[in-house]
Amino acid sequence: MTQRDDLRYELFSAENLHAVSSLTKCCFLSPWSESIYQRELENPLSVGFVCMAGDNAVGMIHCNFVADELTLNTLCVDEAYRRRGIARKLWGMVTEMMQGVCTVCYLEVRESNLPARTLYESLGFVQNGYRPRYYSDPDEAAVLMCCKLVE
Ligand SMILES: CC(C)(COP(=O)(O)OP(=O)(O)OC[C@H]1O[C@@H](n2cnc3c(N)ncnc32)[C@H](O)[C@@H]1OP(=O)(O)O)[C@@H](O)C(=O)NCCC(=O)NCCS
Repeated sequence: MTQRDDLRYELFSAENLHAVSSLTKCCFLSPWSESIYQRELENPLSVGFVCMAGDNAVGMIHCNFVADELTLNTLCVDEAYRRRGIARKLWGMVTEMMQGVCTVCYLEVRESNLPARTLYESLGFVQNGYRPRYYSDPDEAAVLMCCKLVE
């Protein structure tokens, strides 16, 4: 059995919260704390999915929604599992769940994060704004992107 066959996709939940928190610490310089994600689990305007390999979370997507607008907050995949379509699959699971609820998705991404920007472009996002010096540690601009969701 390959690593790929071992993957399973599930809703973000209290059961995988700790594994998700560990994943985000490896993927981001300033990840959200576990308590922030814990709070999101109690937020009815929050949606998330996790890709698990055994007891480890190897991919995660988390969004919030208000009215018909979705905001993508977190999308990350363990370095060892990248370029296998996990991020694309997680995004597909969110859009399927939000079908008929949200018509547009917004996100912001570090200007230098070319893997993420390429991914988002491949998913149909286009740039709709630019905020100089938006991020710190290190200082960097944010590229704002949006995507019309198919109804
Ligand atoms: C960005 C990230 C989530 C992509 O996850 P992934 O599972 O490897 O992405 P996928 O395999 O689903 O890739 C889908 C498409 O995105 C693009 N893409 C993904 N990684 C890329 C890279 N390193 N370079 C160029 N294009 C890339 C490609 O178009 C790819 O399609 P292809 O493999 O058929 O060419 C992952 O690199 C990551 O976790 N990075 C660190 C966290 C992060 O920066 N998150 C985004 C913050 S806004």
